[in-house]
Amino acid sequence: MLEIDHIKARYGTLTALHDVSIALKPGARLGVFGHNGAGKTTLLRCIMGAHAPAEGQIRFQGEEVPPGRVPETVRRGIAFVPQGHNVFPNLSVERNLHISGLLFDQNFVREVLKLFPVLDERRSQRAGSMSGGEQQMLALGMALMTQPKWLLLDEPSTGLAPVIVRNVMAQMLKVSEAFGTGLIIVEQNVPATLKVVDQALILKSGRPVFQGEARELAEKPDLWEWF
Ligand SMILES: Nc1ncnc2c1ncn2[C@@H]1O[C@H](COP(=O)(O)OP(=O)(O)OP(=O)(O)O)[C@@H](O)[C@H]1O
Ligand SMILES: [Mg+2]
Repeated sequence: MLEIDHIKARYGTLTALHDVSIALKPGARLGVFGHNGAGKTTLLRCIMGAHAPAEGQIRFQGEEVPPGRVPETVRRGIAFVPQGHNVFPNLSVERNLHISGLLFDQNFVREVLKLFPVLDERRSQRAGSMSGGEQQMLALGMALMTQPKWLLLDEPSTGLAPVIVRNVMAQMLKVSEAFGTGLIIVEQNVPATLKVVDQALILKSGRPVFQGEARELAEKPDLWEWF
C-alpha cells in the first residue's frame, strides 16, 4: 500500500495542500488533476520525500517515507519523472538508460528496450536529437531502470501532439500491466489520462474536490464543474 495520510504542505506562509488523504493498493493507477497552482506537483514531491509535509505522513508498505531522503525513496521502489525532458542530451539513449540504472540491475536495459521498440531503434542516437515524444519515452524508460513499484509522472504529455500523447499514455499502461507498476499521473489532459487510470483526484487550491473512480469522472458530462 501507498498511503497519503492527512497531508498538509506549506511553503512559508502559503498552504499548498490542506488535507489530502488517499490509500492506493499495489499496481493502482491514479490521475491527479487541477488548475495551475492547485498543489499537484507538491503532492508528488511530498510522496517522494522531496518536500516535508507540515502535517500528516506518507507511508509505503507500512513504513514512513522520511522527508529529505529521496535516493532512499527511489531505492525502496518509488520513481519520479519530473516535468520536462529529463534526459542527458549529449549521451546516447543506451547510455542514458545505463546511468539511470547504475545502482540497479544493468541487464534490465534489455527489458526496457524490448518494451520500447522506438528506443531500441535509436539506442546509439544522441538523446538530445530525438523528438519531444521520444525523449518523454526515454525519461519513462530511465525511471523504469530503477524497477519501481510506483511511478510518479508530472505532466508527461506537456508539449506533445495529441497522437503522441495517446502513444505515451498507452506505453504507461503497458508498463503498468507488464510489471504491475502503480502509476500516479499528474496531468492537464484529463480525457487522455482517464483512459489509463482507474482512480482520480481533483485538487482545487490544495483541497481535494473530487476523489473516486476514474470511470465516474469520465461519465460526467459536467466534469469541468470541478475545476
Ligand atoms: N518552492 C516553492 N516556494 C514557494 N511556493 C511554492 C513553491 N513551489 C510551489 N509553490 C506554490 O505552491 C502552490 C502549489 O504549487 P504546485 O507547483 O504544487 O502546483 P501545480 O498544481 O503543480 O501547478 P502547475 O499545474 O502550474 O504545475 C502554488 O501556489 C505555488 O506558487
Ligand atoms: Mg506542477
